[in-house]
Amino acid sequence: MDQKKFYITTPIYYPSDKLHIGHTYCTVATDAMARYKRLQGYNVKFLTGTDEHGQKIELKAKEAGVTPQQFVDNIVEGPKGVKDLWKLMNISYDRFIRTTDDYHVAAIQKIFKKMYEKGDIYKGTYKGKYCTPCESFWTESQLVNGCCPDCGRPVVDAEEEAYFFRLSKYADRVRDLLVNTDFLLPRSRVNEMVHNFIDPGLEDLCVSRTSFKWGIPVDFDPKHVVYVWIDALFNYTTALGFMNDKYPDSDYETFWPADVHFIGKEIVRFHSIIWPAMLMSMDMPLPKHVYGHGWLLLDGGKMSKSKGNVVDPYLLAERYSADALRYFLLRDFPFGSDGNFSNELLINRINMDLANDLGNLLSRTTAMADKYFGGCLPIEQDEGPEDAALLEKVSGLRARYEADMEAYAFQNALADVFEVIDNANKYIDATAPWVLAKSEDTKPRLAR
Ligand code: MSP
Repeated sequence: MDQKKFYITTPIYYPSDKLHIGHTYCTVATDAMARYKRLQGYNVKFLTGTDEHGQKIELKAKEAGVTPQQFVDNIVEGPKGVKDLWKLMNISYDRFIRTTDDYHVAAIQKIFKKMYEKGDIYKGTYKGKYCTPCESFWTESQLVNGCCPDCGRPVVDAEEEAYFFRLSKYADRVRDLLVNTDFLLPRSRVNEMVHNFIDPGLEDLCVSRTSFKWGIPVDFDPKHVVYVWIDALFNYTTALGFMNDKYPDSDYETFWPADVHFIGKEIVRFHSIIWPAMLMSMDMPLPKHVYGHGWLLLDGGKMSKSKGNVVDPYLLAERYSADALRYFLLRDFPFGSDGNFSNELLINRINMDLANDLGNLLSRTTAMADKYFGGCLPIEQDEGPEDAALLEKVSGLRARYEADMEAYAFQNALADVFEVIDNANKYIDATAPWVLAKSEDTKPRLAR
């Protein structure tokens, strides 16, 4: 019989700076899901990686006085970089893609050309706000008080030649996908996509630029570089060998379509509208689900590298251990919603759940087994009136846990586990083994 397969991905992160606890959150959740599926006997492929092109990285590298490649190499592979962080956090990814990898670059050029030959990519004119001193185009929403977000100087309206993807052509099919299937999860995110983006009319998407160089050149028109989303989104397929020779074709055949892409809520739009439209254009199967999780907030606002209010996962994992941090991230924040990060919450979780409840249960149980029986329990055991309820809780745990994990409700799955731990602690309190230990007659009950 064919082994069941499961393909899960994180977003590919921008290595424009060190990653923070928000990125760690998504990767930890993906890792938990991948491990859960492996335990269930699935053949799992877990992909993560980095999204390394674009103007921002070009500018950052310039500021740092290095080439863009040196800049991203340092953030991805360098000390305390992305790969080190995932190692520290025990992330069990099977594959790591960098969009600067040769095989990805070559595949993106082929994909771009195929969409162009089909007529789904065409040449047009991009209109935007241009900062002349920085030689940079910005969108209206990127401007700060109407000025360049980098240097603060006024911008002017400007145009450049660019390629566009015929997103509008796929609007009806994408709308149908969102409204009539469970492609996008949680379902609460569907309305926003349909009402804010699809119903007002989808505009074709600019997919190439000439105003910066750090990107994948369009091979049939090399003054253009591929702009962001074709390069970034197709990572999920090039990492399986699609249109390249780096990995065996069988990987793509086995694992595509993805079972789920985990992503943050601000990129739901790209994954639930643009991504399926591009796959439709390529006549490729669509991922089964896209799950848009919430943000970790700090003082009610989004943590972001550009705001400088980020929490360093390295510090926390080194101080409290990766497992404690992983537990906290999955236990305290409902996956689909935003949640406020604070050190107090983290420390309380560690103290209450891990040290008190779990730690106590473990240490009392092993200490008593050791003290009263030399670590080896006798076969003769007496049941008591307290047993049935605990046994029932324990035997139903797997089913409850699985139902929650299948619903991406990590928080509830862990609550189920800790409910059993809590019940077990109460069981010990109620049966008072230290009293049973006082008489030979009650030893079989003690052993139980
Ligand atoms: N490179 C794109 C994704 C391309 S996927 C084909 C990108 N990168 S990012 O580094 O800016 O963000 C990556 C992910 O981190 C996003 O899913 C984003 O939601 C997540 N997070 C960034 N800050 C976050 C929080 N404060 N909380 C939770 N997740 C957040 O977007």
